Amino acid sequence: MSDFDGRVALVTGTTGIARATALHLAEGGARVMALGIDPAGNAALAAASSDITVRQTDVSVPAEVAAALGELEDRFGRLDIIVNSAAVHPYGDAVDTDPATFMRCLAVNVGSIHLTAHFGVPLMRRSGKGAIVNVASVQGHACQSGVAAYVASKGAIHALTRAMALDFAGERIRVNSVSPGSVRTPILELAARTFDGPDADIAAVFRRFGDAHPIGRIGEPEEVADLIGFLVSDRAGFITGSDYRIDGGLTAGLGVK
Ligand SMILES: NC(=O)c1ccc[n+]([C@@H]2O[C@H](COP(=O)([O-])OP(=O)(O)OC[C@H]3O[C@@H](n4cnc5c(N)ncnc54)[C@H](O)[C@@H]3O)[C@@H](O)[C@H]2O)c1
Repeated sequence: MSDFDGRVALVTGTTGIARATALHLAEGGARVMALGIDPAGNAALAAASSDITVRQTDVSVPAEVAAALGELEDRFGRLDIIVNSAAVHPYGDAVDTDPATFMRCLAVNVGSIHLTAHFGVPLMRRSGKGAIVNVASVQGHACQSGVAAYVASKGAIHALTRAMALDFAGERIRVNSVSPGSVRTPILELAARTFDGPDADIAAVFRRFGDAHPIGRIGEPEEVADLIGFLVSDRAGFITGSDYRIDGGLTAGLGVK
């Protein structure tokens, strides 16, 4: 694999899908900078590959993202790929969710996509092309109850992806999103503990979540990373402004019993 030889990639998040994607890009020849807020996740990813630089960053804070991009420019002098995977997942309906939690969810999940583009696309322009993938969710297409802020953020990611795709298409900067169903990551463990309590049997809950997907299992982060890797590669040169569901058929059905 050498799809990414000589390329430089920025990834937000350091665990789950972000971790798998950073490793996938590094294995394909890219040098990667990953931005994460979780010290343990950051340290584990930094230890996993010498081609991955990890920077402790809150991706919702403009000055922190600007500083990270400044360091990336100093270190590598170019930027070819951005993968926005960082997110928070608060639970609650519009009454349960306090305004600060709602706004924080939008700032992390959507605002960070604006920030990595705002500070990153000018650098990308110098390479004459680039590719951005935003990790959305099936919850941006249809949703479960009790996750109002998260669902609002994921719908916004679909819309922002289209807007950025149109705005940057003429500069050969492609922008797409992926919408996973349930994937084996820390955010899904949070879901398991939210629904089944702090002592939930995670493996059993994941099997139950898997049963809800027509294909009969949950997804693996490497499967999502593989799709992202394709979308940011030159093989996807005619693809922009699109969303790709990777959900084991979850949103193909109507759920009619
Ligand atoms: N796992 C699933 O079932 C699933 C399904 C659909 C969509 N997604 C989406 O996939 C993406 C990745 O999530 P994941 O499943 O890998 O879970 P995850 O919890 O491993 O990943 C989220 C990452 O975001 C980081 N993060 C959170 N707030 C941050 C901040 N302010 N600054 C920097 N980093 C921050 C976390 O530290 C973590 O590394 C998210 O956008 C999530 O909404 C996941």
